[in-house]
Amino acid sequence: MTSKEINKVNNSTVASSSKTPKPIICVHDVVVAYQSNVAIFDINLDIFRNEFVGICGPNGSGKSTLLKSIIGAVDPLKGTVKILGEDILKKGSLHGLRKKFGYLPQKTEIDRNFPALVKDVVGMGLYSTVGLFRSLNKKDYERIDRALEIVELDQFKDRPIGHLSGGQQQKVMIARGIVNEPEILFLDEPTSALDFKVARNIMTLIRKIHEETELTIILVSHDIDFIKNNCSRAVCMNRRIVWEGNPKDEEFDEVINRVFLK
Ligand SMILES: Nc1ncnc2c1ncn2[C@@H]1O[C@H](COP(=O)(O)OP(=O)(O)OP(=O)(O)O)[C@@H](O)[C@H]1O
Ligand SMILES: [Mg+2]
Repeated sequence: MTSKEINKVNNSTVASSSKTPKPIICVHDVVVAYQSNVAIFDINLDIFRNEFVGICGPNGSGKSTLLKSIIGAVDPLKGTVKILGEDILKKGSLHGLRKKFGYLPQKTEIDRNFPALVKDVVGMGLYSTVGLFRSLNKKDYERIDRALEIVELDQFKDRPIGHLSGGQQQKVMIARGIVNEPEILFLDEPTSALDFKVARNIMTLIRKIHEETELTIILVSHDIDFIKNNCSRAVCMNRRIVWEGNPKDEEFDEVINRVFLK
């Protein structure tokens, strides 16, 4: 029996008990196509509260597309996605749901001349709650301070964002993702284009955030070692989910070798 199958058995066993945790993300039979090209298909995935899910797969295997379909940034050709019990495709539900998740997209290069301070960039993460037109109040700034403390950049809050290094900017984007105190955090390759040391530092920070909060994290990463050592579940993609299970399982190594080295 594969880990995926074992997972299914475990979930259905739990499902029959009264204390069953319900998945907070349910992806059912999702297919996403760009024009006529199918990017991902046959996607079924349940994610539970407080899980730390690591999604890996070769370039072009549909990892970012999967995240975008979950957060409602691309419409599936087929299938359904529910977050916290709400269908994201239902008119109006996405607006309310945005307050409940944070998302760090794959490419967040910031123009050196972008005229915003670090605290303002983090504050943008509050717009889904406060709206675009209300100015931030004292409580909002306290949340911004707290998010910057978590990423250890509180002393940078009044600096222009463009004056920070790539790694520091990436931490600011993580702070922006958590400032709203979301229930779920989606991170799409938060360390791409960073040197090894800075990348490790950011990954350690993500682990710390997961350990210290109730946050459910879905991380896309090519850092297989990190996924192995830190994630509670690995999902390996190649346009569809080819394997999911405990990343410490030997089978994960076999799958990685098969998918990446074929
Ligand atoms: N906006 C788009 N328009 C057309 N095709 C797209 C678009 N975004 C992605 N694709 C295609 O969909 C497929 C999956 O892309 P996706 O970005 O999801 O892969 P990925 O696994 O995140 O890759 P990477 O590891 O390089 O980030 C690729 O073939 C890609 O070319
Ligand atoms: Mg990607």
